[in-house]
Amino acid sequence: MDLRPTCHIDTYGCQMNENDSEILLAYLEELGYTWTDEVSEADVVMINTCCVRESAEDRAYGRLGELKALKAQRPELFIGVAGCMTQQPGVADAMAQRYPHVNLILGTHNLRRFPDLFSASRTRALPLVDVAAEPEEMPVFPRGVRQGGVSAWVTILRGCDKRCTYCIVPYVRGREMSRPVAEIVSEVEALVREGVREVTLLGQNVNAYGKDLPGGGINFATLLFALDEVDGLERIRYTTSHPRDFTQEMVEAIAQTRKVCEHFHVPVQSGANHMLRRMARGYTRERYVDLIERIRQAVPSASITTDLIVGFPGETEEDFQATLDLCKQLRFDKSYTFMYSPRKGTPAADFPEQIPLALKKERLARLIEVTDHLSRDANERAIGTEVEVLVEGISKKNAQRLMGRTRHNQPVVFPGDPAWAGELRRVRVLRTNTWTLGGEPL
Ligand code: SAH
Ligand code: SF4
Ligand code: F3S
Repeated sequence: MDLRPTCHIDTYGCQMNENDSEILLAYLEELGYTWTDEVSEADVVMINTCCVRESAEDRAYGRLGELKALKAQRPELFIGVAGCMTQQPGVADAMAQRYPHVNLILGTHNLRRFPDLFSASRTRALPLVDVAAEPEEMPVFPRGVRQGGVSAWVTILRGCDKRCTYCIVPYVRGREMSRPVAEIVSEVEALVREGVREVTLLGQNVNAYGKDLPGGGINFATLLFALDEVDGLERIRYTTSHPRDFTQEMVEAIAQTRKVCEHFHVPVQSGANHMLRRMARGYTRERYVDLIERIRQAVPSASITTDLIVGFPGETEEDFQATLDLCKQLRFDKSYTFMYSPRKGTPAADFPEQIPLALKKERLARLIEVTDHLSRDANERAIGTEVEVLVEGISKKNAQRLMGRTRHNQPVVFPGDPAWAGELRRVRVLRTNTWTLGGEPL
């Protein structure tokens, strides 16, 4: 029986945050802890927060409230809060006041200090708050602990230098800092030695990779070519792309490399130039359409997915129609749709002409009707085709089936031998549900 103390980490937010949680777990394992799925049994519970929308914050606050009862039963329980929420002005201190049962409140810039802060805050009666200003240079982290599997996340740059008027990320994640190519390549090589076959390169804006690196001449395309050479690695994914920084050189690099998948997640946010300008996205609808056309020309089998915001301040019915119209024109394979959520400290939160909640909800529902229809169409087009699947293992929903993903990142369920985990298999697609494909191995 394993007698080591246990830890659990709840993650809200994007893949960058998921990757930070893996780094937190690496620190906790070094300190002798082992993972548990059960919050109620854990000796250490960390909450890694997100503040990109109000709904994400509400979930973290809800969790903190629930943990209060657990702490009352087990006073030795350690509770820590990390992530983007704590980095907003005044939030960490307010949290410490409202949730005195928390041991540690940690910002995004001092994750490196977690082991020291953990020891310092273990036995304190009141929360230890440590939210630092931005680091001068990119800190070096231990490699995150993955929960098994053939796929891993690799952060290539932190922060964001864009200032989209709705977005809180630049305020809580700081400016862009890239990791050196050699450091990323050696991390990927080490992952491959441990059985990883697919990496997803992470950054708020991966297309800005390298701009801050000394010497110049290094960009996202350079990095893709370097990683394409890693023996034993089968697939490279990346997220998120920014349309403004997506150069033709990068489009061609993706077309020329074998391992980089034909899936482009390129958030457009709105189809109306008037909205794009007010969001300060730095491109027009026409430039975005041109980018997608160039992608489809270079990579004819490309799958294109996007993010959309409805109800941004000043959005008229006509602006909203322009978004619906763009979706139909470009036929996105999948869209992530959001209602605009005002974030304190961002310019758009103070714009006049905020859209009433009821209208935002109505537009979101109308948008989802269109985007869901397009996604179903995209899945149906896959029926009868032969796809390359990276087998992840036994399906969670059906133990008689295997689960894997296509190069387009669509989940596929099919019968086969569990020993195929980690292998590439050809599968014929026979049917589709809304998000999952079903098929037979060839
Ligand atoms: N760096 C990435 C992802 C940012 S957050 C990018 O720039 O694309 C992921 C998505 O959340 C964004 O693309 C946007 O669609 C949405 N989002 C960001 N801030 C938001 C806000 N205040 N309200 C609603 N959605 C928002
Ligand atoms: Fe959330 Fe954005 Fe932070 Fe990711 S970077 S955790 S989406 S606020
Ligand atoms: Fe940056 Fe993306 Fe926002 S590029 S400013 S995080 S929407």
